[in-house]
Amino acid sequence: MPLEPLVPLLEEAEVNNYVVGSFNAFNIETVRAVVVAAEELKSPVVVAFAASHLKYTDFDAFVGAAVQICSRARVPVVLHLDHAETLDVVTRAIQAGFTSVMFDGFGLSEQEKWRRTRSVTDLAHSVGISVEAELGHITKEGIDRERREELLIDPELAGDFVRATGVDVVAAAIGSVHGQQAGEARLDFARLTELHEKVPCHLSLHGGSGMTEKHVEQAIAAGIAKISYFTGLSRDAVDRAIELLDGDTEVRITVLFDEMRQAFQAGVRRQLTLYRSAGTT
Ligand code: G3H
Ligand code: ZN
Repeated sequence: MPLEPLVPLLEEAEVNNYVVGSFNAFNIETVRAVVVAAEELKSPVVVAFAASHLKYTDFDAFVGAAVQICSRARVPVVLHLDHAETLDVVTRAIQAGFTSVMFDGFGLSEQEKWRRTRSVTDLAHSVGISVEAELGHITKEGIDRERREELLIDPELAGDFVRATGVDVVAAAIGSVHGQQAGEARLDFARLTELHEKVPCHLSLHGGSGMTEKHVEQAIAAGIAKISYFTGLSRDAVDRAIELLDGDTEVRITVLFDEMRQAFQAGVRRQLTLYRSAGTT
């Protein structure tokens, strides 16, 4: 099945009351884990490569493999560039065959963020690729805790931003954080409802690892179409490695990597079930 654009998948999810899971993958094993889990559960899925993972991979080689694995899938798969900070990496991803890009302008002045996002949208839309932007700022666990309130998305401003830049998806900062390993997020669902009324595009949540089943249910009801999730999968794979290596000095790298891939894959299956997208394709 050829790689899918993101927007039609999000439209399907909104109509049928589920969310599309987006999972970060950075090598052959993790891409396979995401795609095979989605096939096992007959679910659409987003394979998301985070720009912050560029340092862990040979990007061109990765993309070649990722495009091949994703386009052989028996379920709809979107290949998405996550949290890109430069136009250069966006351009490389689009040329390589990604079908969705996220431009993250955190740290830029408002004016510069709007201007650069518009450039990304112009480029991406000219070749039929959708664009996601982050509004407000989804902080990292343990960082900017005291600024969390002021970094939440402003629904009024978000509406203006979407009209000015033409983005297709807004990642809404409503209290989730990236990298949450324990406890649960405090999400501002009232803000999300207001956002849904004022923002003329699809909505996503990031920092999925801090979200509970109840959060997912509320998010679906409030119109969220995509949830991004990674830290929990990293935990699943690393826990499996610790278990396997415990006192055993004979473990082979082939077995270790394969067991970690299987744990990662099981984590994707767990999340797809929670997101209610299983069995929808
Ligand atoms: O962009 C990636 C996601 O937002 C992942 O967040 O690692 O906290 O689950 P998470
Ligand atoms: Zn994110």
